[in-house]
Amino acid sequence: MSPLFTPLQIGRLTLGNRFVMAPMGRGSASDGVLSPAYAPYYARRAAGGAGLVIGEATAIDHPTAMHMRTSSTIYGQGAEAWAKVADAVHAAGGAFMPQIWHAALMRSPYPAEDPKLEMVNRHLKSMGPSGLYMPGLIDPSLTPPDPVQVEEPMTAAEIDECIASYARAAATAMAIGCDGVNIHGAHGYLIDEFLWSRFNRRTDKYGGSIANRVRFAVEVVAACRAATAPDFPIMLRLSQWKQQDYRARIAESAGELADIVVPLAEAGADLFDCSTRRFWEPEFAGSDLSLSGWMKQLTGKPTMMVGSLGIAREVLEKDAMAALRAVAAGGKAAALGRSRDDRRPAAHARRGAAAFQPRRFRPAGRGPDDDRQPRFREPRPHRRLSPACRSIAPSI
Ligand SMILES: Cc1cc2nc3c(=O)[nH]c(=O)nc-3n(C[C@H](O)[C@H](O)[C@H](O)COP(=O)(O)O)c2cc1C
Repeated sequence: MSPLFTPLQIGRLTLGNRFVMAPMGRGSASDGVLSPAYAPYYARRAAGGAGLVIGEATAIDHPTAMHMRTSSTIYGQGAEAWAKVADAVHAAGGAFMPQIWHAALMRSPYPAEDPKLEMVNRHLKSMGPSGLYMPGLIDPSLTPPDPVQVEEPMTAAEIDECIASYARAAATAMAIGCDGVNIHGAHGYLIDEFLWSRFNRRTDKYGGSIANRVRFAVEVVAACRAATAPDFPIMLRLSQWKQQDYRARIAESAGELADIVVPLAEAGADLFDCSTRRFWEPEFAGSDLSLSGWMKQLTGKPTMMVGSLGIAREVLEKDAMAALRAVAAGGKAAALGRSRDDRRPAAHARRGAAAFQPRRFRPAGRGPDDDRQPRFREPRPHRRLSPACRSIAPSI
């Protein structure tokens, strides 16, 4: 444990310790703007000892970056709200970084039943390397369907626009006083869709070989670096797993992983933020090293890791739906290790139970510490999950 309490230097930033609050979206922004309640919400994590607080995924200024109206943004009034969060976290003794994000084809192609819940800018083409869509899953035992083509692949001009939008977001983060930026390159969103051969079927310089599939991410990191400063901390979150397929992998071997992370480190990533399902699992056969361990070894950069920290192993040893049923039947939600602040509308739970149904849910419109259970429009067929069950929504 003791190394966790030692300082860490990342570029211009000195962290007091190595405890980091992971990015966690609450889906409660209004027109892209977090409510004022979020500044004290994040500040409490710093006051509680987290050396670094990372904000929820926040949309870059590309018009199709958001999938839900309740996502936050890092431009206009959205950026002003983040500036207040950064100030509050600093006042509580912590460092703060926003997580910049483009939802890509996690934007559902299905119209919402309730017009108030309709996708932001649905009339615009959703961005994806090859225009493919697959719904998010929760049940790892389900075999995900083949992705379906719902859009035309991104054009070269659209790729350039998105890269420029990430760069503006990083520049904004620096301008409003954040201590760095976390680029969301994981979980099946835009950057990850380029990395994932199942979603990237391009035949130009952005598709095919790993060197080509990583090109978009490399250009995003390089553009963020160029738009900020040489010592402005840039983190990149990567994952093998995707919301669309928990068993997905972008690297089957350490060699393939090197082909991804080494160019990213050279492009300007200071730290790799590894999102895994199970932090203790070795990543490749023949070694005990985790994904995070491999990234550190291959790049020489600091890394951090998340994935089932604090979740009781007996819960994890059951399959996800069995765990849901156990909690619904009166099991202890506390065993799952979530604080009540981390509850959010269980979009994933609902998606898993009603796999392949279009997403429909009400904007929460709640404060970050409001633990009233949200009221859902349940996709059919689907039985209502217990309130405790809703606290185990996994991740975005
Ligand atoms: C409510 C909730 C919201 C999340 N939102 C984000 C997000 O905005 N960006 C992101 O990269 N990960 C997000 N995640 C994933 C977490 O950062 C973390 O990687 C994940 O919870 C895995 O850790 P765990 O298995 O210990 O929960 C979210 C997770 C939760 C529970």
